[in-house]
Amino acid sequence: MIRICPSILNANFDDLPNEILKVAQVSDLLHLDVMDNIFVPNFTFDLDQSLKIVEDSALPVDVHLMVSDVDHKATSYAIDNTASITVHFEACADPVSTLRNIRSLGKRAGLAIKPNTPISVVEEILNEMDMLLVMTVEPGFGGQSFMESMMPKVEQARKWLQDKKLSDRWIQVDGGISLTTIRRAYDAGADTFVAGSAVYKSEDPAGMITALRRAVE
Ligand code: DX5
Ligand code: ZN
Repeated sequence: MIRICPSILNANFDDLPNEILKVAQVSDLLHLDVMDNIFVPNFTFDLDQSLKIVEDSALPVDVHLMVSDVDHKATSYAIDNTASITVHFEACADPVSTLRNIRSLGKRAGLAIKPNTPISVVEEILNEMDMLLVMTVEPGFGGQSFMESMMPKVEQARKWLQDKKLSDRWIQVDGGISLTTIRRAYDAGADTFVAGSAVYKSEDPAGMITALRRAVE
């Protein structure tokens, strides 16, 4: 069971409901990148704009929060059409409490790690999350190259999940996923794939999602 989550970071922000409709039939979740220009050097949407996108989305939304001081902010994104909320380990004062707060609202809780963060930081808290997000680029921008060097982290996390009997947890990869890289991430143990520019720079976004899915199914 794998999931493809198109990221609208490189879609046309002036027409997001239609951009989302283009991929809705063939995608699992919409990946929404929230950036505050503090945690990452880029800004996308404030809270009100984000909630409007979630409300209007034809797909349930996987919210990726690239914002600082996120412990106090994460639960504000839990509305009806929110499927999951992912926070960055590096932006949390207390990751376990924050993950628990998200789960207590009935939403899936994700924890993300940036490329320079070792996988060891999640070993003892894998049970507290529904999804681990291993970033395969520096967060902040779409269109960067996939970091193959992150694959040992995915392999290690997959092994821990098996050993701990937590195989129902998802491992997501985000950054540089395309027809040429998705298979490598799948082979390492990822099951949930974010794809931004591969989808929205394609002439046929829905066709690209289907091709990505076929590459790993
Ligand atoms: C990067 C974002 C990604 C981004 C991926 O900080 O978290 O979700 O949209 O874009 P691509 O697929 O172009 O690398
Ligand atoms: Zn993202």
